Amino acid sequence: MHQYISTEDNTLTIESCNAVSLVKEYGSPLYVLSESTIRDKFREIQSEFLDKHPDTIAAYASKAFLTTAFAKLVNQEGFYMDVVSGGELYTALNADFPSEKIIFHGNNKSHAELEMAVKNKVGRIVVDNLYELSVLADLAKTFDTPMNVLFRITPGVNSSTHDYISTGKKDSKFGISLDDFVIFPAVEQAIAASHLNFLGFHFHVGSQIFDNTSHILATKVALDLIYEVKHRYDYVIDELNTGGGFGIKYTDSCTPQSIGYFTDAIVETIQSYCLKHNLKRPRICIEPGRFIIGEAGTTLYTVGAVKEIKDIRTYVAVDGGMTDNIRPALYQAKYNALLANRPGDPVDSEVTLCGKCCETGDILVEHLPLPSAKPGDIVAVFSTGAYNYSMASHYNKHLIPAVVLVNGSESNVIVRRETYEDLVRQDVVPKHLG
Ligand SMILES: Cc1ncc(COP(=O)(O)O)c(C=O)c1O
Repeated sequence: MHQYISTEDNTLTIESCNAVSLVKEYGSPLYVLSESTIRDKFREIQSEFLDKHPDTIAAYASKAFLTTAFAKLVNQEGFYMDVVSGGELYTALNADFPSEKIIFHGNNKSHAELEMAVKNKVGRIVVDNLYELSVLADLAKTFDTPMNVLFRITPGVNSSTHDYISTGKKDSKFGISLDDFVIFPAVEQAIAASHLNFLGFHFHVGSQIFDNTSHILATKVALDLIYEVKHRYDYVIDELNTGGGFGIKYTDSCTPQSIGYFTDAIVETIQSYCLKHNLKRPRICIEPGRFIIGEAGTTLYTVGAVKEIKDIRTYVAVDGGMTDNIRPALYQAKYNALLANRPGDPVDSEVTLCGKCCETGDILVEHLPLPSAKPGDIVAVFSTGAYNYSMASHYNKHLIPAVVLVNGSESNVIVRRETYEDLVRQDVVPKHLG
């Protein structure tokens, strides 16, 4: 499947760690992350984008996966970080991530979250609406802290991905509309605000995209806006953030591209437009999340019940499900999987891999070719690094699995397995029920 996955003595190996031994040591289900794969992705972006093109920034989109250890790894690699909530911001700051390298997104940041960002001198705020703009302008003034600001715009571009992860179209909860009567008063307000430094624009067209067309179309829309701002206000836009969304390999039907396929085209579009229109070429920022962490993750589960419904299908149930991977239920995401304890056994069945949650839709993989599975087998589901742990829930009071980072033959827990005590830690019993 991926380069860091292999088999040895008919057992799956993740980097140089035996998958069955990982489950024995750390329990099941288990999220496993390959550190070398993650670092390779950072380095691909470094060489294909940052080193190749001057005045560029790459921020890791932490919504894909964030823990304290991971924030430290992102910082070690020298990347910026995109956060989208007070919780992500707290996690980054608590891991000593430099606040000036944080980009704060979100379509409904609260007053408290914005105050936290101002007090911590976060490097950039991506303002999503006019209400936020006025709250932020007031806070920056109150705390006498100049803040760098970009506007998230909705470029009106449809991307070829699932509707729920297509975010650049006009009818979206995200971003400021490009109608003249909305965007230009907002730009005027940002330029005029005493404690705001208006840097430029941001868009994010969607996720799991294999074709650069929507990024390029949105870039052109943003460039027209930059041109218009220059001519209306004699104001030079410094920065254009073209978001993330670069697709990865979940199954053989995915055709991922190198990061350079996207970024070369984006940079070229910006450079030639600026040359033609005599504009200063803005700093260019990208925000990949899934691209960095997605393929590095494998989830290991243990098989329990196997239910064969004659002439219909066979359900193979594992000890996790939609609580650790909501993506198949949320947007019909497809995954690949195999039996980690005997990957070389002949495939003689096609099964539905399901979880243990009380939902019929709790399906992880449909039409999965497997050797006949039996209780105790270990199933490995691939490419689960992004939007799995970060979207995990406690539905049915299931415990969120531990996360282990493997590097060669070394493995380290970066998120401890929860306990039942953790599940009731926040519960409060009022006196009359006590
Ligand atoms: C503003 C923004 N930037 C970056 C990303 C990262 O997207 P991906 O993980 O697909 O690269 C997202 C994802 O939702 C986003 O909303």
